[in-house]
Amino acid sequence: MKKIVVAIDGPAGAGKSTIAKLAAEKLGYAYIDTGAMYRSVTWKFLQTGREFDEAFISELANTMIIEFKPEAKINRVFVDGTEVTEAIRTPEVTAIVSRVAAIGAVREAMVEQQRRMGEIGGVLMDGRDIGTVVFPHAQLKIFLTASVEERARRRYKEMVEKGQQVELAQLQEDIAARDKQDSERAISPLRQAEDALLLDTSDMSIAQVTDKILQLVQERV
Ligand code: DC
Repeated sequence: MKKIVVAIDGPAGAGKSTIAKLAAEKLGYAYIDTGAMYRSVTWKFLQTGREFDEAFISELANTMIIEFKPEAKINRVFVDGTEVTEAIRTPEVTAIVSRVAAIGAVREAMVEQQRRMGEIGGVLMDGRDIGTVVFPHAQLKIFLTASVEERARRRYKEMVEKGQQVELAQLQEDIAARDKQDSERAISPLRQAEDALLLDTSDMSIAQVTDKILQLVQERV
């Protein structure tokens, strides 16, 4: 059966990674979490303890090796051989990842790798610019969203389950700020591609959204 490229874009906390991972498993596709790539660059930069410097961060992005090793429940991420699966999700990384992702040379380096990973098809890639920039000719593009309140509630639940202490109002504020930064940046801002299908998941369960995506893929193969 033909294996296509599925591009899933949308704002933070819309459920992209959970759903993309589930759908990829069911389809036997590779799942590429491009947010994890920008987070990896940010992590690597924070490790150096240097001041924010675009040229330096771009150099790191061009020389580091990011690898995904999918396992049953988690998608492990490695940077130059070191596992960073958890380390790239810390508040320190989250706080500045949008600034790192706004650097043109960093995006160029990531997009090139993403295109290589998807060139043979059979991938489900999630991010902010997959349908607009990385794979403008993807056979299926989905723009996944949900209200900011619902996205904050989901993130809150997820973090509380992990034993992290957070405030719902603060989370909502952070998510709104990140949306704004990602949507208003000059290069490859977050936006729905014209030919992307809009899926508002505010009132949908994970299973419902996953089934909908599987159905859309079936229609295209
Ligand atoms: O999806 P996420 O929260 O892990 O993404 C982390 C950051 O990376 C987010 O602020 C937006 C940015 N990003 C991007 O600019 N382009 C992508 N394709 C994926 C993520």
